[in-house]
Amino acid sequence: MAQPLDPVALLAHQLKTPLSTISALAQGLIRRAERLSAKEVRDRAERIWRASLRLNELIEMVLSYTRSSAGGILLNPTEFNPEALIRRVCREQTSHEPSRPVTVDIQTLPRTVVGDPILLEQALVIVLSNAMKYSSAERPITVEARSAPEGISIQVKDEGIGISARDLPFLMQPFFRGHNTKNYPGTGLGLSLAWHILRLHGGGIEIDSREGHGTTVTLMIPEKNITGAVDVL
Ligand SMILES: Nc1ncnc2c1ncn2[C@@H]1O[C@H](COP(=O)(O)OP(=O)(O)OP(=O)(O)O)[C@@H](O)[C@H]1O
Ligand SMILES: [Mg+2]
Repeated sequence: MAQPLDPVALLAHQLKTPLSTISALAQGLIRRAERLSAKEVRDRAERIWRASLRLNELIEMVLSYTRSSAGGILLNPTEFNPEALIRRVCREQTSHEPSRPVTVDIQTLPRTVVGDPILLEQALVIVLSNAMKYSSAERPITVEARSAPEGISIQVKDEGIGISARDLPFLMQPFFRGHNTKNYPGTGLGLSLAWHILRLHGGGIEIDSREGHGTTVTLMIPEKNITGAVDVL
């Protein structure tokens, strides 16, 4: 029987992919810079820059996860406006995909809630960037937020590759990646980090998906929960 893939080897591979791109493009520039037009040089520099952003993203994800599982995440609750946070995250994350139809539908949210806005923003970025990564840039994404009896729910819906029923139970495990993600970069740490963050707030994450059709991820944040000054995971 085939050996299961070592997650650290997979992660190293993911980190090496953008690094190889950077290395190959930079070597090409060094060897051929005099023969390339200004536009060709700019194109290559831009591809190097994009690969370095991707590398940075991967490293940030690993660092955040390592912090959360080693020393614990510190929760710093303050009052914040949930609508402003959701709108800002959606605007910032989707700005580089101008052809993507994005609907932000916000209903009856309280003006302020108590929670850690930096961590909750990180959780929403993780879920929204998954929706963008696993669906093509022309497919719509809908972000819906509302007050429910259990608290605030933020739902991110995409029409992307979806998740197979056999992968669904494992998504919150660190390093786990769906069988249909081979052509997409990633560490498999994002959702486990988001799950830690929501659990710290007394909430949770629900995922509903059909392979080949799309995915809906719901972040649940109870409204009454957080009163302490600092909590440690
Ligand atoms: N919107 C989505 N559509 C399809 N699959 C998804 C979606 N969100 C999560 N998944 C599945 O859940 C897995 C775990 O997601 P997670 O965000 O933890 O890791 P990742 O996206 O693979 O990598 P990274 O840690 O870099 O974000 C993914 O590999 C993918 O199989
Ligand atoms: Mg991800």
